[in-house]
Amino acid sequence: MKILVTGSAGFIGFSLCLFLLKKKLNVIGVDNLNNYYDVGLKKKRLEILKKYKNFKFFKLDLSNKKILFGCLPARALTVKGTLERAFS
Ligand SMILES: NC(=O)c1ccc[n+]([C@@H]2O[C@H](COP(=O)([O-])OP(=O)(O)OC[C@H]3O[C@@H](n4cnc5c(N)ncnc54)[C@H](O)[C@@H]3O)[C@@H](O)[C@H]2O)c1
Repeated sequence: MKILVTGSAGFIGFSLCLFLLKKKLNVIGVDNLNNYYDVGLKKKRLEILKKYKNFKFFKLDLSNKKILFGCLPARALTVKGTLERAFS
């Protein structure tokens, strides 16, 4: 099972990712690293998450569904299908 966490470089997303990764779950993180506040802080959070082998990160904007669906790995079909239904 793969779990998609949006805003994974943010305050809540980062903490959620850490929680899931420590439980050995596979996590796909998505974030556009916007500059609403310190981008350096978001990058530091990602460095911590990237130490986990069960974490994959995609820097992309969730509002761009073409890029979003193009970047998701083929194996994340369940997630992709769910997202497509959510966006349709
Ligand atoms: N922090 C809290 O105490 C709290 C409490 C209640 C609700 N919330 C809500 O939870 C959500 C997350 O809060 P947070 O504190 O983690 O905020 P945050 O700003 O730290 O994290 C949000 C992350 O989402 C990313 N992001 C924003 N738009 C994006 C887009 N279009 N595509 C991809 N990534 C995008 C940002 O770059 C950021 O890293 C917000 O909706 C917030 O209103 C937060």
